Amino acid sequence: MKIGIVGSGVVGQVVGSRLVELGHEVVLGTRDPAKLDEKKRGADSLRGWVAGAGSRARVGTFSAAAAHGEIVVNATHGQSSLAALRSAGETNLAGKILIDIANELDASKGMPPLAIARDAPGGSLGERIQAAFSNVKVVKALNTMNANVMVDPQALAGGDHTAFICGNDQGAKATVRRLLESLGWRDVVDLGDITAARGMELLLPIWLRLWGKLGSIPFNFKIAR
Ligand SMILES: NC(=O)c1ccc[n+]([C@@H]2O[C@H](COP(=O)([O-])OP(=O)(O)OC[C@H]3O[C@@H](n4cnc5c(N)ncnc54)[C@H](OP(=O)(O)O)[C@@H]3O)[C@@H](O)[C@H]2O)c1
Repeated sequence: MKIGIVGSGVVGQVVGSRLVELGHEVVLGTRDPAKLDEKKRGADSLRGWVAGAGSRARVGTFSAAAAHGEIVVNATHGQSSLAALRSAGETNLAGKILIDIANELDASKGMPPLAIARDAPGGSLGERIQAAFSNVKVVKALNTMNANVMVDPQALAGGDHTAFICGNDQGAKATVRRLLESLGWRDVVDLGDITAARGMELLLPIWLRLWGKLGSIPFNFKIAR
């Protein structure tokens, strides 16, 4: 499948590499594809990413990534996601599934960043993306864990932990569930329509506190029944 990733940081790169490994053709989108040698925060340069990911991986603009993708992933800085998706182009996104991994984090007062969690109607980033791009099928997913856990859940606790999804379109969620299962996810909990993005994004304050407590040890939420 052709997958476009709008966002070239650690999430875009790690998810992109794994999708290429699984046989997908990936275009990783960045604001300035000419800056191939610039080191990304916590990740490789784009030249390094392409060299490591292989022949089914390319780098382009946000709009080239969105145009390429049958499925598009939003892996941009949450405070810039709406602007980034606008520059990716409404027509390039129209009718497509958009997997929204982004969280709105504010690092202006230092690290760890503060999660901007909006528990009000229309308040979450996922809802605002859906409202801004009404003919896009937004599925919020994978925002509640570290990038390495997203793509290799089996490496943590034998894969016995939980990924959440939400969104308005049942077919889009079924497709995203299958994609997550291909990454190794076994416990995918559908929380309902896109308003559930509020809850998924509100997990970030506790996630950030756990990160401070546990450091780089991989961890995730598990819903025990
Ligand atoms: N890091 C994780 O493990 C993790 C886990 C869960 C969720 N998330 C969420 O996933 C998203 C991506 O995270 P990340 O750590 O990979 O990288 P990030 O630093 O949060 O975002 C990097 C991407 O955002 C773009 N960007 C930054 N400022 C912009 C602006 N003003 N206008 C347009 N685009 C802008 C960058 O553009 P360029 O390509 O031009 O540099 C780059 O593509 C974030 O929303 C984050 O909260 C991250």
